[in-house]
Amino acid sequence: MNGKQAAGYLAADWVKDGMTVGLGTGSTAYWAIERLGQRVAEGLLIQAIATSSASEELARKYHIPMIEAAQVDRLDLAIDGADEVDHELQLIKGGGGALLREKLVALQADHFIVVADDSKKVDQLGVFKLPIEIVPFSYEWTLRKLRSLYPADFQLRQQDTNQLYVTDNGNYIVDAAFGRIEDAALLAQELDHVTGVVEHGLFIDITQTLVLGFADGHTEVI
Ligand code: A5P
Repeated sequence: MNGKQAAGYLAADWVKDGMTVGLGTGSTAYWAIERLGQRVAEGLLIQAIATSSASEELARKYHIPMIEAAQVDRLDLAIDGADEVDHELQLIKGGGGALLREKLVALQADHFIVVADDSKKVDQLGVFKLPIEIVPFSYEWTLRKLRSLYPADFQLRQQDTNQLYVTDNGNYIVDAAFGRIEDAALLAQELDHVTGVVEHGLFIDITQTLVLGFADGHTEVI
């Protein structure tokens, strides 16, 4: 068992009968969904909502009962991965492009658990390029605005050489190389106010629990 699997499996054991659960996206959340699928097969009664079409497909494969957002108000728990996590459990997310739905789901959950292998733990956020979701209309203007505000390198994410990456919500992603982010909370607030930006991958004061997995299969809960 590797670190990602160990973290995903342990987090899935937080889920109890009757809970409504948010399912994250990525290669660590994958393991949480797999473990939940096993537990559902053993009789666990839950309902879930997914943060991406990929996770929804995986959950359905495991016969996890799925619901629509309109059917619930609060979620009991959400489990998701991260691209970076610092000592205060602030995150960069969105490497897989699902940041908007991931943030919507995390904010709706009474308990948000991040699952990650120990490579994701950092002293300061920003080495991983910050994903920023922007609307396709006039995206060149939004990109120009971002470049005028910050001395970072901003690159539109590509699907392949001829095609821009498009999110599940029909938007584009800009990956911003800040290097080190001195004040992540301030940057998050500023980006919230840039017209054309739909959402960004800074998850500030949202995480309650971090489950870190290590290569030897042991875990640490923070
Ligand atoms: C998806 O958009 C991301 O936020 C993922 O949660 C993040 O990239 C972590 O992915 P891995 O678990 O695959 O590293």
